Amino acid sequence: MNNELIKNENVLLPEFLPDRLPGREREIEDIAYNFKFALNGRKPENLLIYGPPGTGKSAVLKYVIGQLEEFSGKVRIAYINCWHMGTRYGVLGEVARMVGYISPVRGGAVEDIISRTAEIAKKKGLFVVVVLDELDRLVASGHGDVLYDISRMNEVYGAKISVVGIVNDFQLVMGLDPRIRSSVVNKDIEFKAYTAPQLKQILLERARLAFTNFDDDAIGLIAAHAYNNNGDARLGISLLLSAGRIGEKRGLDRLTVECAKEAAAQKSFVPKVEKAEVVLGDVEKRIIVLLKERGEIKSGELYGKMKEINERTLRNHLAKLEESGIITIEEVVGKGKTRIIRLREGQ
Ligand SMILES: Nc1ncnc2c1ncn2[C@@H]1O[C@H](COP(=O)(O)OP(=O)(O)O)[C@@H](O)[C@H]1O
Ligand SMILES: [Mg+2]
Repeated sequence: MNNELIKNENVLLPEFLPDRLPGREREIEDIAYNFKFALNGRKPENLLIYGPPGTGKSAVLKYVIGQLEEFSGKVRIAYINCWHMGTRYGVLGEVARMVGYISPVRGGAVEDIISRTAEIAKKKGLFVVVVLDELDRLVASGHGDVLYDISRMNEVYGAKISVVGIVNDFQLVMGLDPRIRSSVVNKDIEFKAYTAPQLKQILLERARLAFTNFDDDAIGLIAAHAYNNNGDARLGISLLLSAGRIGEKRGLDRLTVECAKEAAAQKSFVPKVEKAEVVLGDVEKRIIVLLKERGEIKSGELYGKMKEINERTLRNHLAKLEESGIITIEEVVGKGKTRIIRLREGQ
């Protein structure tokens, strides 16, 4: 099996977290330094991390949290992805759980959850850091108040709770009620789009893990393509995967420039869910959340899961998502007509 082109496909999947993040050394250091305050009995600052998609924001936070795992004792750090935990209740429930308080899931008064959580944290002498990734989503869907809730655990009830918000769009947070904004942002850290050499290094390291053999120029070409598409490392990595699959299909044992070119040609100008989000309705967002969780879904199953919406309307939504390049719909011929819906790679 030694001449297989792809020796480890896992390292090209979105959930893989490498043990080095070239180009983000300074950001890692800054964020880790802030978290370490908690070890010395000081409350970490509230951070706002912002930058376009694919600039390593999530990866850096997960990396830093992973490095600080030995932090048990009095420090609790939770990473919450607001795609999955997209409501005020959901987030508050998670914060409550972190301090060991099982709050009523629904129906409980928000104020009670806030005060009980804060009291318990205080009594136990905990330092809590809540990382809210994809915070844009929470704000866009009108749940931004949870930021104020968390800040009040600190300001009103005296618990040591800090927030790290991660957003793609800085303006969105600036558009928040100033009262919320000032209580949750002490410091902001910008993640700039990667430069071409940075992308090349990131992709080279990934290619070494993924492929048995590759041409340096193939990686250079993919890096250039990612650079031209907003310096997005996610796109670069998904291009590595496509290029690898193209090579495999051709029976190659080496990733060539041709494979890279072909992969890049297939993936021009694919809009990102993150950017398209503004124009998406609730139903479309639900479909995307489902797909993020499941990878793919058959049309029949989707209709079943969203029974309250009629099929025709759903089909219209799907058509819109397909048109904007966010999903693909594959017709499978067989018994009846099944369609398999997938998020486009890189989304
Ligand atoms: N500096 C880096 N080194 C290695 N891989 C990176 C780096 N930055 C981003 N990545 C990879 O690129 C992809 C997108 O990064 P991610 O952190 O999810 O971006 P963001 O959260 O800013 O949208 C992930 O697969 C991640 O592992
Ligand atoms: Mg992210």
